[in-house]
Amino acid sequence: MSNPEDKVLNENTVWHEPTIYRSHREMMNGHKSAIIWFTGLSGSGKSTLAHALEDVLHKNQVRTYVLDGDNIRRGLCKDLGFSDEDRTENIRRIGEVSKLMMEAGVIVITAFISPFKKDREIVRNLVDSSEFLEIYCDSPLDICESRDVKGLYKRARAGEIKDFTGISSPYETPESPELALPTAKQDVETCINDILDFLYIREIISFKSIG
Ligand code: ADX
Repeated sequence: MSNPEDKVLNENTVWHEPTIYRSHREMMNGHKSAIIWFTGLSGSGKSTLAHALEDVLHKNQVRTYVLDGDNIRRGLCKDLGFSDEDRTENIRRIGEVSKLMMEAGVIVITAFISPFKKDREIVRNLVDSSEFLEIYCDSPLDICESRDVKGLYKRARAGEIKDFTGISSPYETPESPELALPTAKQDVETCINDILDFLYIREIISFKSIG
């Protein structure tokens, strides 16, 4: 991906210091910004939780935006496939976009399989430690596969989709995520309440769970 000319270009750029900082935007918004990073197998509930969380936050006047793997791969990352290298580049781009949106004062909610620990760590290290919340959607492969909402597991088992996460491509389970939610056992509302409580304790938002 890297072009030898990029280095020269970077060396000849000069950082322009803004006059309005994230802290100003956070003050105006009445909440902190952060990256809420859902990771897990396909079908583990990442997108469902991301959108349910956004729904509650938005209704409480919190500025949010969801970046979702299936959607982003139709635009920003439409040139990428599912090889290890392409997944790494996918997560790198999303990490940088998330950081920009966070600087813009938004609570960024991402839903990507993001199977590799090193790639998730790179994103974590782009921002301060308190600003990156990794949420592991902990649903076993056999449950994701039996539900097979998109019909992709069946096609992967039939050999029609190569490098499929959990079947023919690895998923590296997070070792110490900020939250691990048992999405196969726990309903959406309970998961969302767990996340809201966590955001409240971290002083990112100023309201507690929804009951
Ligand atoms: S990631 O591994 O690079 O983080 P991402 O979250 O963007 O993946 O995209 C995953 C989505 O792409 C899945 O939810 C699924 O709908 C679709 N998909 C298509 N092919 C594959 C594949 N080989 N492995 C995993 N997901 C795939």
